[in-house]
Amino acid sequence: MRIRTFDEYQTAYQKSVEDPESFWAEIAQEFQWTKPWTKTLQWNFNEPNIKWFVGGKLNITENCLDRHLATQGDEPAIIWEPNDPNEAGVTLTYRMLHDQVCRFANVLKRNGVVKGDRVCIYMPMVPELAIAVLACARIGAIHSVVFGGFSAQSIADRINDAQCKLIITSDGAYRGNKEIPMKNTVDDALIGCPSVKRVIVLTRTRTPVSMLKGRDVWWEQELKQVTADCPAEVMDAEDMLFILYTSGSTGKPKGVVHTCGGYMVYAAYTFQNVFQYEKDGPTGRQVFFCTADIGWITGHSYIVYGPLACGGTSLIFEGVPTYPDAGRFWDIVDKHKVNTLYTAPTAIRSLMGFGLDKVENHDLSSLQVLGSVGEPINEEAWHWYDDHIGKNNCPIVDTWWQTETGGILISPLAGITKTKPSYATLPLPGVQPILVDENGVEIEGNGVSGNLCMKFPWPGILRTTYGDHERCRQTYFATYPGLYFTGDGCMRDEDGYYRITGRVDDVLNVSGHRIGTAEVENAINMHTGVVESAVVGYPHDIKGQGIYAYIIAEQFPEGHDADLTKRDILATVTRVIGPIAKPDKIQFVTGLPKTRSGKIMRRILRKIAEGETSNMGDTSTLLDPAVVEDIMKGAL
Ligand code: WT7
Repeated sequence: MRIRTFDEYQTAYQKSVEDPESFWAEIAQEFQWTKPWTKTLQWNFNEPNIKWFVGGKLNITENCLDRHLATQGDEPAIIWEPNDPNEAGVTLTYRMLHDQVCRFANVLKRNGVVKGDRVCIYMPMVPELAIAVLACARIGAIHSVVFGGFSAQSIADRINDAQCKLIITSDGAYRGNKEIPMKNTVDDALIGCPSVKRVIVLTRTRTPVSMLKGRDVWWEQELKQVTADCPAEVMDAEDMLFILYTSGSTGKPKGVVHTCGGYMVYAAYTFQNVFQYEKDGPTGRQVFFCTADIGWITGHSYIVYGPLACGGTSLIFEGVPTYPDAGRFWDIVDKHKVNTLYTAPTAIRSLMGFGLDKVENHDLSSLQVLGSVGEPINEEAWHWYDDHIGKNNCPIVDTWWQTETGGILISPLAGITKTKPSYATLPLPGVQPILVDENGVEIEGNGVSGNLCMKFPWPGILRTTYGDHERCRQTYFATYPGLYFTGDGCMRDEDGYYRITGRVDDVLNVSGHRIGTAEVENAINMHTGVVESAVVGYPHDIKGQGIYAYIIAEQFPEGHDADLTKRDILATVTRVIGPIAKPDKIQFVTGLPKTRSGKIMRRILRKIAEGETSNMGDTSTLLDPAVVEDIMKGAL
């Protein structure tokens, strides 16, 4: 499964295209299956209907835990670094993690969870979050992790969509110098969630929380009632492993569904090859530090499942990059002798701003590989990362992928693929990208740009969107029949290298967080006095994209009143979605540029948000072209 040279990459790539089934079968055989599969792949992109390792039986936790006990039971699986650097951290060996996962799986069973049930997880970045995720997988419950920054309303929407039976949370969370009341937020969410019969609460901050009799139980109390004996549920390769909600161009987030077999194989294969991870590197056991939250797909695949399936050591960090100061990442690298750091461009750009002295007082010599994910990395950030963190001695892997893809699709292999700043470079074996024009016609050759699609399935591709298969078809497989459409624009240069240029749909990427413009508009429109709104993205130095909202209010607010109303609107957006969706700029307007058929011309709004003051292009189809002048005058 391990590729070691560029020649080997090319050979593997060729084989993966010529004979994908035997290519993936060979890789999948390295895992532990209760029963082998009978057919490696069945697929069509029309329904869509995609099945990998058909008839195969397995449990992903046996592959992530049990399988490693004999050979490396006492090696670290998880290293946990708390928010407060003075608090003692935790190291869980494979044996300890296995024990804790089995115990907590028994807690879930005791509380009525059975195979196929959906379990929501809303927790801080503590080891128990990974334990909760794996415990669900152990007994075949489908986890739906909701990022800790989402509001009660967002939790409720996700719980109701998946009809979760149980939610796991903590009393509170530490994030930088803040203490966040998680259980409180869950309590608010549950007012509208009749499907939830049980709440398991982990003690973290020991802040006072309400505990409802018959519904809420303490994690620690429950653990006292169970043994560590929990055989893994035998799962079909195509049974659901998890649901993860993500934003699209419509208002309602979609529950992306991944299944047990294909996801496992793909997360592990990409982890090992992209990062060239070796458990036993030249300097001892390698430590992998992915700074994402487990609430996003990056955390699922490259904090939990990928590293553990490969028997690796994964570092979980509870806090934020700027606490207690902007040297925290470097402090962690130094302290734990991190070998691979995998982070987002937005974090790099923000840390760049704090100056080099925050970096230079740390020993970063353990680093061997640097990764980037979540958004395009600009050349300046790429070079800063390369020069000051990698000391021009660590390959940078710019990994392009999505919640829907389960794992990395386009990326250099560390130290193997020649890199180029801001390029995700080449497709991994098994990945067949194609660029198409607006009409779905393939754009061949090099030195071209188009919409990025995939023409063949890989094991980690999404299978459906929970409870609404038609939505999955419409969103990903209907735009260009026969192709999976990523929603991204892309350029292929003269060397055949891919450079992702950003979303071509109404999806924003704010600090690496994916947010739909329609979602933000819906939240703004819920504010009293708001008549209509239009949200677009604009280039932002640190966040990548900022959120610019144009709002029509019943009464045009002026002066101090306008400031207050803006703050109220931010509060409403925070309440409805969460702080990550707060607009950076709000402009009150008296009208929006609409076509005769009533469609908002976002192109114009984007230009104004970008600071363009003339040259709006063709506005002749607008109902009232004068609107544009007015908006430009008030532009922020
Ligand atoms: C969107 C997916 C799974 C990664 C975490 C985000 C953008 C992601 C890159 C990259 C340029 C990137 C794309 C993609 N994106 N990685 N290396 N270069 N753009 O997952 O929340 O599902 O967002 O993030 O636009 O479609 P996500």
